[in-house]
Amino acid sequence: MKFQNFWMLVAAAYDRPPPRQNLVLSPAEDADPTTPQQVIIGSLDPDTEYYYRFATGSEYSLKTPPAKFPVKFPISGDLGQTGWTKSTLEHVSKSNYDVFLLPEDLSSADTVESLWDSFGRLVEPLASRRPWMVTQGNHDSENITAVPTTFIAYNARWRMPFDESGSTSNLYYSFEVSGVHVIMLGSYTDFGPGSNQYRWLEPDLKKVDRSRMPWLVVLIHAPWYNSNYAHQGEIQSVGMMESMEGLLYKARVDIVFAGHVHAYERFNRVYNHKANSCGPVHITIGDGGNLHGLASNYAEPQPTISAFREASFGHGQFEVVNASYAKWSWHRNDDDESVQADSVSIINLASDPACNKLEI
Ligand SMILES: [Fe+2]
Repeated sequence: MKFQNFWMLVAAAYDRPPPRQNLVLSPAEDADPTTPQQVIIGSLDPDTEYYYRFATGSEYSLKTPPAKFPVKFPISGDLGQTGWTKSTLEHVSKSNYDVFLLPEDLSSADTVESLWDSFGRLVEPLASRRPWMVTQGNHDSENITAVPTTFIAYNARWRMPFDESGSTSNLYYSFEVSGVHVIMLGSYTDFGPGSNQYRWLEPDLKKVDRSRMPWLVVLIHAPWYNSNYAHQGEIQSVGMMESMEGLLYKARVDIVFAGHVHAYERFNRVYNHKANSCGPVHITIGDGGNLHGLASNYAEPQPTISAFREASFGHGQFEVVNASYAKWSWHRNDDDESVQADSVSIINLASDPACNKLEI
């Protein structure tokens, strides 16, 4: 009965099923269970191609990100494992990117462990060649409820460098790359004032040296700003925003990426529900290729803080050109072509005299 309720909920939120075939194999077909293994290697030089192989099997190569700008981040939420996922990955692979940022749901495995294996095989050609940095979504949990709590498979298979950033949980962490401080927040763990995540986030924001790391970027799963009818009012959006938006604003976070809503929406700089030239740009990019379809019902009229919205599959490209300027573009999946449908220039807040008086 619980399962049935879940699908009824999904059906209500997503009215356009993905027109391409589902690539997921049934558990019986997927007869190659694996035990996740991890190894830490390094230190590695920047902008260098490394070649590696496992005890058996073919050779792989991994390119490390550059030490300095420019640096290119494709971004895709709610990737899933459908034909749309495949076309999204094909478009991403052509972009010669440096680091893939994913505000997920990843495999949409829900409770089916074998779907993590099929997802791993689907993404391996790309994920083996570049760093993929992820944060969790609700469909990455073993208990799909309004408040998912367990991420056993996710934590085992997608271990991120959380302890290196002082976090005690794989569900939230930060890292620095090529002049960008990236914070991955956990929408599905405690986020209230006084929580472990909050107490980790506050000093992590304070320690960012904007002269060395000019760009400050945050990823979450459930969007704080959203004019789509899907996923309105969820505690992971409303409660987390109430708890943490002030911290991000005072630290002059440049941009916040989210997934969860299966559509694309870009907001202008915003804080506390109003346009604010020192607030982050908020972008929902939950249209990577999930199984549940697109969310095409929007509140009307379009809020003035919402600059662009469209329910189509696609992915984004965040290209940091230098310390003060970046380009954002959204690429709609139009069959086999990657079509750029929205783009905007983003000026770094730490280099903006009107905003660079940090309040933290
Ligand atoms: Fe989600």
